[in-house]
Amino acid sequence: MRIDLGFNPVPFDELQLRDRNVVVIDVLRASTTITVALSNGAREIIPVGSIESAVKISGSLFGEVTLRGGERNGKMIEGFNLGNSPAEYSESTVRGKSVIFCTTNGSVAMAKSRYARSLVIGSFVNLSTVVEALMEKKEDVLFLCAGRLNSQGQFSLEDAVCAGSMIHRLNEMDGLNPELSDSARAAVALHKAHGRSPLKLLKSTEHGMYLTEIGFAEDLKLCAAVDSVPVLPTMQGTSIKLRKANQEPIPTPPEQA
Ligand code: MLT
Repeated sequence: MRIDLGFNPVPFDELQLRDRNVVVIDVLRASTTITVALSNGAREIIPVGSIESAVKISGSLFGEVTLRGGERNGKMIEGFNLGNSPAEYSESTVRGKSVIFCTTNGSVAMAKSRYARSLVIGSFVNLSTVVEALMEKKEDVLFLCAGRLNSQGQFSLEDAVCAGSMIHRLNEMDGLNPELSDSARAAVALHKAHGRSPLKLLKSTEHGMYLTEIGFAEDLKLCAAVDSVPVLPTMQGTSIKLRKANQEPIPTPPEQA
């Protein structure tokens, strides 16, 4: 098992990701919000890379069961139903709904990975569930941090630390002996330096401070709550859904199996 990591998705294209098992990490906040929404009964999340795609897709879907969610500069997009705060995705709002989801970084990384061999959505809130699924599968995996695309593919400390925590656990597992790329090793080092208190970390990162400034300080608590939402969102066909009981650990499209 080889573990690799991208600090942001810019160097990767859809073709390169096709044969890989990918875990997309966007702690603040897309991965967390998707995990909460599905756990609260959303039927599916359809990640898109642009507002134009969101509008186009929602035009072709059945209106009453579809919501548009996402953000620009952390705030709800005009004409959308929901922003990107996990607190907005309550059971009464999302149960049974399809959510077309467009964010600055997270949904772009997810849309890029849509043809991957498998795609899992990871964050602090489902950390152990993701690690367990990867342990069962025992295949090569790429952790793809969403980073910050609006500044030409920069680094997000919270994504790297979260990925590093998962990799550290896999590395410590008896009998697994994964081979780690240099970037995966760097993430483990960041986890060791900054992973002790996720909330303290989120409060100190650039995006965490920005979210606090625009009124989303409470979101940091939700996003830092390790294992509070123990479910596994995976790409199934064209949308992200929860892995069902008794399903293969991480679904692989039949044509690539
Ligand atoms: C993103 O995808 O860029 C983030 O989730 C931004 C946010 O915190 O809303």
